[in-house]
Amino acid sequence: MSGSSKLSNLLGRRPQLLPSMLLCDFANLEREIRILEENGIQILHLDVMDGDFVPNFTYGMTIVEAMRKVTDLFLDVHLMISQPDRYVEAFVDAGADLVTFHAEAVDDPRPILENIRSRGAASGLAFNPTTSVESIADSVPLCDLVLAMSIQPGFGGQKFQPEVLPRFSELRELGGPDLVLEIDGGVNLTTIESCVQAGVDWLVSGSAIFTKDDYGQAIQGLTNSMMVQKP
Ligand code: DX5
Ligand code: ZN
Repeated sequence: MSGSSKLSNLLGRRPQLLPSMLLCDFANLEREIRILEENGIQILHLDVMDGDFVPNFTYGMTIVEAMRKVTDLFLDVHLMISQPDRYVEAFVDAGADLVTFHAEAVDDPRPILENIRSRGAASGLAFNPTTSVESIADSVPLCDLVLAMSIQPGFGGQKFQPEVLPRFSELRELGGPDLVLEIDGGVNLTTIESCVQAGVDWLVSGSAIFTKDDYGQAIQGLTNSMMVQKP
């Protein structure tokens, strides 16, 4: 099934908690994924960093391909790289269901969003807290997802920036009911409810899950807080 059809199946099931695999135990990747599956997770968030667009380096398509081999979960790939136009096809071929890249990394996001869709995947555009909603407005009609960062990208474990929350109602106005609105950075037990109340659909969380001994308990706690405050 293509990434865009898999996305349609998820649209009626919002909000969703997305573990960011940045801090998972890569020596036991398959076991980590099984634990997440057993705890009701439907989407994995994969952070790709190139040491240039952000001052940190993670992994590339090899890991996406490895994950694709062991799971049918939806793979949400977040590219924090300088030249996404060069690599989006490779990430789709590796098994990404949705590919998101940063508006700050390109002059015009639109041809790249079209290219991702033409390969059968869903398209996403991310932007930093310091970038305006207005500057991405022309690209929103070509997006299946918009990711408003709640930290400056690069590292897990940073402090949530609540100033970005009003962006989600603006994005909903621009993109309509089917556009998936995602937040990434500092989502934890203290901040998750405010995100859902602000209208976020997909909530990425890294350290609030992977620094805990019991991932299942962490996921349960976050999911409970996420569901209670659904507007
Ligand atoms: C940061 C990444 C995030 C990050 C989230 O650049 O895009 O996905 O890992 O981690 P926490 O939840 O720890 O902020
Ligand atoms: Zn991310």
